[in-house]
Amino acid sequence: MHPLWSISELSAVLGVEAEGGSGAPITGVSIDTRSLEPGDLFVALIDQRDGHDFVSAAFKAGAAAALVRESYARQPGDGALFRVPDTLAALEALGVAARKRLSPDARIVGVTGSVGKTGTKEMLRACLSRLGPTHASEKSYNNHWGVPLTLARMPRETKFGVFEIGMNHADEIRPLTKMVRPHAAIITTVEAVHLEHFPSVEAIADAKAEIFEGLPEGGAAIIKFENPHAGRLRATAERLGAKPITFGLDVPADVQGLQLTASDGGSDMTVVVGGGSIPVHVAMPGRHIAENALAVAAALHAVGADVRQGLDALASLAPPAGRGARSVLRIGAGEGLLIDESYNANPASMKAALAALAAVPRAKYSRRIAVLGDMLELGSDAQALHTGLKSAVDEADVDLVFACGPHMKGLYDALPAAKKGGYASTSQSIGTALADSLRAGDVVMVKASNGIRLGSVVAALKMQFGQQDEPAA
Ligand SMILES: Nc1ncnc2c1ncn2[C@@H]1O[C@H](COP(=O)(O)OP(=O)(O)O)[C@@H](O)[C@H]1O
Ligand SMILES: [Mg+2]
Repeated sequence: MHPLWSISELSAVLGVEAEGGSGAPITGVSIDTRSLEPGDLFVALIDQRDGHDFVSAAFKAGAAAALVRESYARQPGDGALFRVPDTLAALEALGVAARKRLSPDARIVGVTGSVGKTGTKEMLRACLSRLGPTHASEKSYNNHWGVPLTLARMPRETKFGVFEIGMNHADEIRPLTKMVRPHAAIITTVEAVHLEHFPSVEAIADAKAEIFEGLPEGGAAIIKFENPHAGRLRATAERLGAKPITFGLDVPADVQGLQLTASDGGSDMTVVVGGGSIPVHVAMPGRHIAENALAVAAALHAVGADVRQGLDALASLAPPAGRGARSVLRIGAGEGLLIDESYNANPASMKAALAALAAVPRAKYSRRIAVLGDMLELGSDAQALHTGLKSAVDEADVDLVFACGPHMKGLYDALPAAKKGGYASTSQSIGTALADSLRAGDVVMVKASNGIRLGSVVAALKMQFGQQDEPAA
């Protein structure tokens, strides 16, 4: 196997010679010295902080080279330096070069959408890893630096690449998808998320549809059949010369999920794709996850992968921390179940998470508790969107609600007294109130935007009630 980058390749791509250093090859690319591995190229980006302040630390941690702006003053201990006018533009150039050097039969999938990007990306990673060398975005590295960083890290032997692409504004996805050049592009769904920066949900749909601009002629534009904006997405795809492929549960989509049966152990369904029917078990519970799995099936089919063998991976893929991870709590002599959704929240994912809570059988966990914190970045409709969750709380037959944050107060006030577990403006006090009322047989689902910090409530519960991971179902 070749190293990720040789010094001479970097010189050719960046158009500058390395200054100093031993000429040792580059084995990774890093923008953060806290996670830098020996052998990495350190890229000094100017973002929240100026990466140039960390170049010395990067070399101390074993960086093989650093990408810095021209004016950077070499420090004692610095190794190979590549001086460029703009480090972000240089990272993009590396990304473009990494994409270009892949074999022509490598296949790339791009994933965007209002919710479900990371989850879908991780499902694709798991499925495609069974079929060949696969490279995928780390965490939610989906923005103007995350996407070129992921590209720059892509080994040349990659057979399958999976890229999460996100946005907060119009015109952000376009340049990213043109770097990624996906063969198949998924829009998981279009919802009223990040409304702050958009005049309408239609405008959000159009911004997501920019991802199709990176597809080749006839590339797969994968769209959720049931989304109200599916027609709009399809029209854009067709105008761009892409091939729309729809997916959905119990609808006449191109890729269909039929006979979905849900339990707390996940979902089972029959996936109809490319003229075949495949029984599929998805270990992550939730109808919305099953829908994302259909998008995955559509992408596997579109890139010519073995769909059946790929989807097999979903039978053993557990949800990540903060996105539905489950753990068993020891409460007295009994048990409770904790569902950690503390990383992210918006109206669509709140409803999905409440539905997943409702799918936990009462026979096993008799009392349903929802700990709900504010959903951020919803713009002027924020209050109505919070209060509007009441019907989802009712439908899920939640027994007790704890609420946290000024907007959730609106929902809390609308609940009958018997369902009011407690309200607090901070995550700390809500954690205490919750812990006091927990008893064996409870299932607790904790969800909010990450900024509300309900992750600390989850951590405190695990600490207090000694947890163990839920055995895979
Ligand atoms: N299709 C979907 N519809 C509604 N909610 C979803 C969907 N897919 C995932 N979610 C939920 O949205 C939250 C965020 O998921 P994640 O995959 O991290 O999305 P993103 O990367 O787009 O922010 C999770 O709680 C997840 O369960
Ligand atoms: Mg994400």
